Order: sequence, then structure tokens, then C-alpha cells
Amino acid sequence: MSKILVTGGTGYIGSHTVVELQNAGYDVVIVDNLDNSSIQILDQITEITGKKPEFYELDLCDEAATVDLIAKNPDISGVIHFAAHKAVGESVQKPLKYYRNNFFSLINLLTAFAGREVNFVFSSSCTVYGQPDKLPVTEEAPVKRAESPYGNTKQIAEEILVEVSGANSNYHVISLRYFNPVGAHESALIGELPIGVPQNLVPFITQSAIGKRGPITVFGDDYNTPDGSCVRDYIHVVDLAKAHIAALRRQEEAKMSGNFEIFNIGTGKGSSVLEVIKAFEESTGVKLDYKIGPRRAGDVEQVWGDVSKAENELGWKAELGLEDMMKSAWAWENYIKEHPFN
Ligand code: UD1
Repeated sequence: MSKILVTGGTGYIGSHTVVELQNAGYDVVIVDNLDNSSIQILDQITEITGKKPEFYELDLCDEAATVDLIAKNPDISGVIHFAAHKAVGESVQKPLKYYRNNFFSLINLLTAFAGREVNFVFSSSCTVYGQPDKLPVTEEAPVKRAESPYGNTKQIAEEILVEVSGANSNYHVISLRYFNPVGAHESALIGELPIGVPQNLVPFITQSAIGKRGPITVFGDDYNTPDGSCVRDYIHVVDLAKAHIAALRRQEEAKMSGNFEIFNIGTGKGSSVLEVIKAFEESTGVKLDYKIGPRRAGDVEQVWGDVSKAENELGWKAELGLEDMMKSAWAWENYIKEHPFN
């Protein structure tokens, strides 16, 4: 079985993907600088899969160290690149932090594979579509001007990957545009570990429900949507993790058309903020305290994906619904209450 490098492999989506890779029989090498994750996640992954992934604490912005690591691992055939800063609000305050980290790491990684054949899966986001003109949004929809430096790093990274794979046919790149990843592994041993006050909806819901935060604020109920709150395509993180395996398989089986492809990864179904709140209450039996507040700057009104390309070409489809997402997120919140992470 081939060896796969997972950058950011102790992070939220990264750790779930490492589990799926190991379950599928891949050997995994994780690189992470632990900037926004805990080393304890390695033990959790080991507990779930029965196998400890190889781990290097390394900052991909260090070009020499990155090149050296890749040179010493000539059997790495694929890379799943998660490592990046991802807080939208912080990126507006500190744009250079985002441009420096997200670009230098990507460029160093690509440089390290120069002259080698590599399958490269990139973590992109539906944020590149902004507010789409047509819903569900397809991969052909125009990329709109980013609302934040974070969003811009995703757009420009895709452009870099188009150009690099265009200039060198050894790079086989698939960019996965994720919709809104939520939930946790069914074991409740891994999940999202937000630092400070969560900015994203589901971690805020679970922290509010467990008493760590006050009431939830619904950011706006006057949008042009069925119940007035924003609509998103929430996808279970385990389904999302499996999409990466499907992408690698496509690369390994040389099924790609050309050297660069894009896939939307969502459920194809939109849910409003109020529907998510209701789904949480119904699936966990826990009542939430929430209030309606003003709109949040930069939010798009509604977005959900056309996921038929992933279904047809990757042979991948989301299997889990909102109930599984809410139950697993809640089980994880309860787990970390009993087993706090460093
Ligand atoms: C955000 C980013 C997106 C990024 C993703 C990564 C923005 C504009 N977009 O997506 O680029 O890829 O996170 O995780 O920030 N909401 C509330 N109350 C809350 C929190 C959220 O009502 O306390 C609402 C939001 O208005 C939104 C929905 O819940 O309608 C989802 O919000 P969130 O989880 O932050 O994700 P996005 O904003 O969709």
C-alpha cells in the first residue's frame, strides 16, 4: 500500500481523514506544527484504528525542513494538504499571517516534490463561490471576489495548483471544495477542538448546550430564505474524510482528465440555522437557548452544492444526515468535558 502524507493531520478534518486512510490500509505520515491542534489526537487515532501514524512536528513554512522530510521519504506517493490557518475573522485582522502561512507552506510542499510523481489533494472551500447566482452551485460557477484574506488564500492556492500542474505533468491535483464540515467520529474520540469562543455554528451550539457558553445568537432572520435564517450545506466530517480517499483512488487509478480537477463535497441539501438548531434539539433531546441577532458581516445568504460530479466521477456520496452530525458533535462535546485536551 502506498504511503500518504497528511499535512495538518492532527487537525479537525485531518484527523478524521487519517482514520479513514488507515482503515483503508494506507500508511500515513502526518506533518503538523501543532499550532491549532493537540498532540493527544495521535493517541486517539491510535485507539480508533489500532495503528499509530508516523508523525513529524514541522512547520511547512520551513522550506529546508520540508524538502528534507520529503527527500527522506521517497515512498510517499500522495499528499493531502490540510495544514492552513482557517479563521475568517482573524484573517481580516492579520492578512499577512494568512498569506505567509497558507502560501509559503503550499509552495514549499510543491517544491519538495519537484521531479517526483505525486498525487495531491487540496483542501478548498465553497467560500470561493461567494453568493452564487444559481443554486445548487456547480464546479463551473464563477469564482467571486473573496470576502476575506482566508477566502482569498483558497482561491489563489487553486490558481497556483492549476499553473503548477499545468507546467508539470508529474503533479496530479484534485481540489475538494468543502461545504460546511460538522460532526465528529462515531467513537467520540476525535472531533473539532476550537480555540476560544467558537466562530462556527455547530461548535457554538454544543458548547452552549453543555453550559460553556451563553445563548446562541442566530445571525439574522431577515434573509430571503424560507425561515429567514442563512442556509448552508452541512456535511458530516466522516463523509468528508472519505471523499479524500475517493480522490486518491481516482488519482492512483489514473482516471483524472488532465492534471487538475475540482469537486464539490457536500450533501447537496441546504439547511437553515434554525433547522440546525431544531435538528440538534430533536436528535439529542437537549433544549437550546437562542436569540435572534443582527446579520454577521461577510455572511452569504444561502449556498448548497451540486454534488453530482463527485457522485459520478469520484463514486462518492455523503451518507450521513443532520441527525448523525448533531448526535456525534454532542457526544464529542461530552467526551471532551470528561477528557480535556491540552
Ligand atoms: C465559515 C466561513 C467559510 C469557511 C468555514 C470554515 C465565513 C463567511 N465563512 O463558513 O469561508 O470555509 O467557516 O469553517 O465566515 N451562525 C449563527 N450563529 C453563530 C455562528 C454561526 O447564526 O454563532 C450562522 C452563520 O451566520 C451561518 C451559519 O451559521 O449562516 C454557519 O456559520 P459558520 O459555521 O460560521 O460557517 P460559514 O460562515 O458558512
